[in-house]
Amino acid sequence: MWTKGCVIERIDWSDKLFSLRIKAEIAPFIPGQFIKLSQVRDDKRIARAYSLVNSPDKPYAEILAVAVEEGQLSPTLQHLNIGDEIDITPTATGFMTLDEIPKGETQGKHLWFLATGTAVGPFLSMLDTDEPWQRFEKIVLVYGVREAKDLAYLDKLRAWVIQYPDKFMLCLCITREAMPGALSCRIPDGLVSGEIERKVGLTISAKDSQVMICGNPGMIGDAQIALINKGLTKNLRREPGQITVEKYW
Ligand SMILES: Cc1cc2nc3c(=O)[nH]c(=O)nc-3n(C[C@H](O)[C@H](O)[C@H](O)COP(=O)(O)OP(=O)(O)OC[C@H]3O[C@@H](n4cnc5c(N)ncnc54)[C@H](O)[C@@H]3O)c2cc1C
Ligand SMILES: NC(=O)c1ccc[n+]([C@@H]2O[C@H](COP(=O)([O-])OP(=O)(O)OC[C@H]3O[C@@H](n4cnc5c(N)ncnc54)[C@H](OP(=O)(O)O)[C@@H]3O)[C@@H](O)[C@H]2O)c1
Repeated sequence: MWTKGCVIERIDWSDKLFSLRIKAEIAPFIPGQFIKLSQVRDDKRIARAYSLVNSPDKPYAEILAVAVEEGQLSPTLQHLNIGDEIDITPTATGFMTLDEIPKGETQGKHLWFLATGTAVGPFLSMLDTDEPWQRFEKIVLVYGVREAKDLAYLDKLRAWVIQYPDKFMLCLCITREAMPGALSCRIPDGLVSGEIERKVGLTISAKDSQVMICGNPGMIGDAQIALINKGLTKNLRREPGQITVEKYW
């Protein structure tokens, strides 16, 4: 179940938000999947899921995490340094992947990613591969955080905006301070008011859109309601729809 990983790089985005790059033998995975990291303390194993941020062709596992106050594992992860070891699952798992999105006529032209906080990670993994760029005419990433300092991988995201000016739209929703160019609403509110669609210049519809939503469960619940009110349905294997979700807690 567990293999040893070794931290080979870390990035501190803020005093709470960090990335760890871990050298480990991980089986081939699909972008959007997650591994588990774990430690044994007082004979008790603590294990938590973390989405992979890197594309599958990289020889390491990279995660983006926030140190949750009073959390059991994440504050410990934040204190790992280069050379430190951590238990990791050798196989990634999870269903919030592009494989789960219907292909062909029901696919739609536009791929929307809605993420709060660390949940931008799995979408970065997908965007770092050819598949979404080849399958969709337009890709929108709506990335919601409390403050500008909570944004991670912004340089990488802005590089895609420059590389794909007619194809990739980045919509930042910063809720607890003003940031030029960003919206100041929570994601579900921005969907209901139409602010997000106006900002990116695209309309969400069952015909044209696939929407993947990841992160805070409250955001996911409310965003789903907003999308259902626009005529979208959950994407089920027995009945393809347009909404695919992964809750982080
Ligand atoms: C499929 C899946 C993928 C995940 N991927 C990531 C990831 O890539 N990065 C990541 O940081 N976490 C991710 N998580 C959450 C992660 O597994 C842990 O729950 C988190 O690190 C807190 O663990 P803890 O032991 O420190 O806190 P716990 O003692 O388990 O406390 C959990 C509480 O912390 C809060 N919380 C948990 N995760 C987050 C988060 N990401 N952002 C904000 N608040 C949170 C919630 O209030 C939750 O009830 C994922 C969870 C799932 C189910
Ligand atoms: N980020 C920090 O500066 C910070 C500092 C100290 C500790 N932490 C720890 O980190 C954890 C996670 O913080 P985080 O900021 O990464 O994640 P978060 O609390 O999930 O917030 C990320 C974004 O999601 C929005 N959001 C929260 N609940 C929502 C809901 N029900 N519906 C729609 N949108 C919602 C937030 O808006 P709102 O701003 O309106 O809530 C924010 O824009 C906290 O539990 C805390 O333990 C974070």
